[in-house]
Amino acid sequence: MTRNYPSKVSIVEVGPRDGLQNEAQTIPLQAKTDFIHALARAGLNRIEAGSFVSPKWVPQMADSAQVFAAINRTPGVTFSALTPNDKGMQAAINAGVDEVAIFAAASEAFSQRNINCSIADSLKRFENVMQMANDQGLRVRGYLSCVMGCPYEGDIAPDKVADVCKTLLDMGCYEVSLGDTIGVGTPGHTHRLLDTLLRDVEATKLAAHFHDTYGQALANLVVALQYGISTIDSAAGGLGGCPYAAGASGNVATEDVVYMLNGMGIETGVNLNAVLAASNAMFGHLERKPTSRTYTAMLAKCNRSF
Ligand code: HMG
Ligand code: MG
Repeated sequence: MTRNYPSKVSIVEVGPRDGLQNEAQTIPLQAKTDFIHALARAGLNRIEAGSFVSPKWVPQMADSAQVFAAINRTPGVTFSALTPNDKGMQAAINAGVDEVAIFAAASEAFSQRNINCSIADSLKRFENVMQMANDQGLRVRGYLSCVMGCPYEGDIAPDKVADVCKTLLDMGCYEVSLGDTIGVGTPGHTHRLLDTLLRDVEATKLAAHFHDTYGQALANLVVALQYGISTIDSAAGGLGGCPYAAGASGNVATEDVVYMLNGMGIETGVNLNAVLAASNAMFGHLERKPTSRTYTAMLAKCNRSF
């Protein structure tokens, strides 16, 4: 049997952004900052803490500047934010973010619904955003949505994903995070996608950002690891969804990823119990249980809160 897994994985915790952007209720600033501090205490050293998008489009992220002003900047932890345009980039600079992310899609319809422009127009718009980031010495991550399917267009051709992915890297993104935005992909999709993508792109430049709508995310991650991808996006407790992808459920849960990687002997630097504690506090505010299977199993075992 071939075992070709990386020895270490870098986890990007997206719960405070991808997770909370989708919540119906307003989450108090203090609850957000407590959550972010708890995640940093758990050893998560890449935390997406907010987004500088239009508050009319995503009201839950409207307080991102306050979040960045309130969080303790733990040494060694990168606190990043999404920036869709110049206005968002300027706000991110003013807030003192450590890193930014631009976000494009492999589907025209999703691009229109999510950022109100075509893929080509978004890439053009990002040129100046990249320039502004470069002027500040900020690293830029790229997101690419709908890599395994779109809520409006259905199947997306791997070649289309490869085209936009290469453009984002050519523009200067240090990494592109592959979003299975609506969690429809299976290991079959993941193989097909990566067989195409890795013809021209190095695995070290890619991250896996899988939502778990159909319960396929961990299986897809194992495939991604076999192809040499060693950066995984996840959200504590399995928070998440996308406001412009109806039916999309949460990101793969950080607890489930850490439990799996621990069992595979792959280093993450993340303390599982401390992630459970972070989820416990946030889901206490949300007044519901995390979808994470590891959280549920470990809670039952301990018969208590974390
Ligand atoms: P637009 O309406 O075309 O923008 O939206 P506009 O330039 O015409 O401006 C309209 C108004 O918005 C103006 O205000 C602007 O000032 C304001 P008004 O004059 O009407 O009062 N505005 C802003 N305000 C604050 N911050 C800004 C900003 N920009 C304009 N940055 C826009 C275009 C891109 C702004 C909008 O579509 C938007 O904000 N979209 C973001 C949607 C979003 O955040 N989606 C979720 C994140 S993506 C995701 O979850 C997927 C991911 O997880 C990966 C995966 O799973 O696949 C990353
Ligand atoms: Mg997402």
